[in-house]
Amino acid sequence: MTYFTEAASAETVNARMGPDTAPRLAEVMASLVRHLHAFAKDVQLTQGEWETAIAFLTRTGQICSGERQEFILLSDVLGFSMLVDAINNRRPAGATENTVFGPFHVADAPIRAMGANISLDGKGESCLFEGRVLGIDGAPIEGATVDVWSDNADGFYDVQQPGIQPKWNNRGRFITGADGRYSFRGIRPVSYPIPDDGPVGQMLAQLGRHPYRPAHMHYLVTAPGFQKLVTHTFVGGDTYLTSDAVFGVKDSLVAPYEPGAPGDTLWRSPFDFVLVRE
Ligand code: BEZ
Ligand code: FE
Repeated sequence: MTYFTEAASAETVNARMGPDTAPRLAEVMASLVRHLHAFAKDVQLTQGEWETAIAFLTRTGQICSGERQEFILLSDVLGFSMLVDAINNRRPAGATENTVFGPFHVADAPIRAMGANISLDGKGESCLFEGRVLGIDGAPIEGATVDVWSDNADGFYDVQQPGIQPKWNNRGRFITGADGRYSFRGIRPVSYPIPDDGPVGQMLAQLGRHPYRPAHMHYLVTAPGFQKLVTHTFVGGDTYLTSDAVFGVKDSLVAPYEPGAPGDTLWRSPFDFVLVRE
């Protein structure tokens, strides 16, 4: 038994763990305690700063609800969500890269006919999104579900504006046939701020950071026998591409936006998704 000392603080705490602690929990908690104590020593944390941090975390918890997850937002703006995503989704060259999931996905969106229009509010610049879902060998994947969602032309997801936007606006699921092709009509997405009226927004402001994400279309692509792909395609040339508030941009995910076919959509954005076997 040892009493707490500043010099051996982390070791003292970790020595209390019981012998029956699950091995992975013991590993994770011991490392967390070591890093947390090293952090406080590194910055010589003052009592006032500790109280500010506790108050910040308290407000972060208090604003959370069924519709609002401020802790995930905090993880996102600290680049932590993207780090965990990167650690868990290392893929071979040629496979489509993952990026952050975000809080605005809604499960069980309507399954729509190939080519259908997901933009139900009549706003925005029309865009045809099309391409193929392929294996890494280039073979088309039949029966893949391409689940898509984006903001509307005002920069809001339907779930942020219930009663203002039609339900399922800019959302849908598309199932590929034997050719692996998907296509749907939507709008050219616009950049928008992440929810910044809470503690995370206050923190960004204090750090001189803006809350914007560059324009993107979200994709969740799943197929039996393949790893789940959570990704976006980004609109090239967006002002916020190099300063995404949640660090989600990857070079390989910037998609072309070309003029659409006359009489159809204003824009066309082709993109193939390449999945890796489980
Ligand atoms: C999004 O792209 O929908 C998103 C991602 C992270 C935080 C907030 C929004
Ligand atoms: Fe988004």
